[in-house]
Amino acid sequence: MRSMKVLTTVAEMRAARAELGGDLGLVPTMGYLHEGHLSLVARSRADNPATAATIFVNPTQFAPNEDLARYPRDLPRDLGLLEAAGVDLVFAPQPAEMYPPGFDATVTIGGVTDVLEGAVRPGHFAGVATVVAKLFNIVQPARAYFGQKDAQQSVVIRKLVRDLNLPVQVVVAPTVREPDGLALSSRNNYLTAEQRAAAPAIHRALSAAKARFDAGERDAETLRQAIRDGLAGFTLDYVSIADADTLRELDRIEAPALASLAARLGTTRLIDNLLLG
Ligand code: PAF
Repeated sequence: MRSMKVLTTVAEMRAARAELGGDLGLVPTMGYLHEGHLSLVARSRADNPATAATIFVNPTQFAPNEDLARYPRDLPRDLGLLEAAGVDLVFAPQPAEMYPPGFDATVTIGGVTDVLEGAVRPGHFAGVATVVAKLFNIVQPARAYFGQKDAQQSVVIRKLVRDLNLPVQVVVAPTVREPDGLALSSRNNYLTAEQRAAAPAIHRALSAAKARFDAGERDAETLRQAIRDGLAGFTLDYVSIADADTLRELDRIEAPALASLAARLGTTRLIDNLLLG
C-alpha cells in the first residue's frame, strides 16, 4: 500500500505530482471533512489510478462579515480520514503560500455568478474560481470532484473549465444526506440542538416541491411558494426555481430546472437544492 504524502508548498506539491505520473483525481475541500467529501474521494478512487485532496480554507471566498475565523478546522482528523480513505496526496497550504505578497489576480466568471449565492455573497464566486484555477494548475488533475449540494459552484466551475479550456474533467456527485434528509455540510456543526432538529424541513420542503413537479406541476412560482410554505419559521435569503444551466429564474419549467434555497437558522446559513427533471 502507498503511504499518503502531505504537502504544504506549491513546489513540494508539483514534485510529488510529477513523481506520481498518470491520471490523478482531485477532491478540493476546505477541510472539516464529512461523508460527503469521502464519497467524492471514493468516486475519484474508482475513476483514477491515484487521488489527491486539498485542504484549504480559502480566505478570498469569504466576505469580511462571513465565518472565515470560526470556520471549523481539524487538520489531524482530516488527514486520518483521508489516509483511511486511500488518498495518495494531500495539499494543505497556508494562506501565504497561495496568496503571497504581491498576489494580484482574480478569475471572474460572468453570467452565472450574479444570482442566487452570488447575489447574496458578492465576490464569493470570484474567490472560488480563482482558488480552483490555482489548485488545478498546481495539482494538475485529469478529473476533479465536487458535490451537487453546492449546485451553483458546480455550474461556475464547469464554466471556468469550458471558458478557459482547462484540461480537467469536472465530475459532480450527488449530495450526501443525514438519515433525516439534512444535506451534510461542515456548517451543520454550528447548529444548536434545537436548530438541528428544525433543519430537515429544508429537504422536506424541496422534496415536496419536487413531488409536485413529478406529478405534473410546471408553474415555477407555484413551486417556489410550496417551498416557502414548508419553511415558515426560517429566514430565507432566496427560494429559486431556475434553469439548471443558466440559473435564470423561470416562469414555466420546460427543461431541467434547479430548485434551490438558502435559509438562515440563527447565525447559520444553510443551502440545499434538488434537480427537477
Ligand atoms: O466547496 C468547497 O469546499 C470550496 O468552495 C472549494 C471548492 C474547495 C474552493 O475553496
